[in-house]
Amino acid sequence: MTLSGFLDICLPRVESALDHWLPPDTIAPVNLHQAMRYASLGGGKRVRPALVYATGAALGTPQPQLDGIACAVELIHAYSLIHDDLPAMDNDDLRRGKPTCHKAFDEATAILAGDAMQALAFHILVQDPALNVDAGARLTMVAKLAHAAGSRGMAGGQAMDLANENRDITLTELEDMHIHKTGALIRACVQLGSLAAPGLTVAQAEHLDHYAKCVGLAFQIRDDILDVEGNTQTLGKTAGADQKLRKATYPSLLGMTRAKEMAQELHAQALEHLETFDAAADTLRWLADYIIMRES
Ligand code: IPE
Ligand code: IPE
Ligand code: MG
Ligand code: MG
Ligand code: MG
Repeated sequence: MTLSGFLDICLPRVESALDHWLPPDTIAPVNLHQAMRYASLGGGKRVRPALVYATGAALGTPQPQLDGIACAVELIHAYSLIHDDLPAMDNDDLRRGKPTCHKAFDEATAILAGDAMQALAFHILVQDPALNVDAGARLTMVAKLAHAAGSRGMAGGQAMDLANENRDITLTELEDMHIHKTGALIRACVQLGSLAAPGLTVAQAEHLDHYAKCVGLAFQIRDDILDVEGNTQTLGKTAGADQKLRKATYPSLLGMTRAKEMAQELHAQALEHLETFDAAADTLRWLADYIIMRES
């Protein structure tokens, strides 16, 4: 198996789970359902669902157990992108190679689509009949995803990001912002994927959580690097947006060389936390490689 072989199996699974759970765009309110489907289906790298499935693979969890979780984390992520692109936030026109949700629809519909996608994520975690875990594990999943998405996770990190525009901040503040705005949800992917495994040990959960913390931060550092070095065509979103908004980023604070070194250091630390796992954790290893080397 290779990463691309693994993704060939997982990505259609999450696509069809999203299609299943998203309301059809033939039922009212049609415009809202169209916007939700527009922002969720047929695009994105699906790194967060891949982390859910890869965590499941490391622990021997059957894939049907993981489809709802993969769907839930992707819905939170896709909602965060809709709101991130709004004029009140990063004011972007292009996302996943197409007009942003508020451009394709309108701002109010985009805001509501994000709201409804967030609610749907929690609905899936609570209702998914294929998720064969006890009520306690389900509740823990809901609590972990809520924490990751909320003011002490992604939404809080986004607030820091906006507050830090046009400001000089310290490396500690920058790391804190990235850990919240991007790291928290990536960490939740691995936590929820772990919780679906019946025989999970405390040691396994802790190692996987450390792995996820490292790749979560590395993911946003690579995103900052690509904003400088990537091009709009390959990224599917406007390159150079951070500098234009005077965002605090790793390259802007530390310079490009040091930013790349930090991504490499986090990659090495992520792999160290997988040392006690056998070849079943290889997809997690490959995803760590991909996260710091990706071009989009
Ligand atoms: C972009 O995330 C926003 C960040 C948190 C850096 P992705 O790079 O995962 O975006 P998609 O899902 O592939 O479009
Ligand atoms: C977005 O960070 C993080 C979240 C959406 C939570 P960015 O603003 O850097 O993401 P892009 O570069 O627009 O994808
Ligand atoms: Mg942003
Ligand atoms: Mg943005
Ligand atoms: Mg960015």
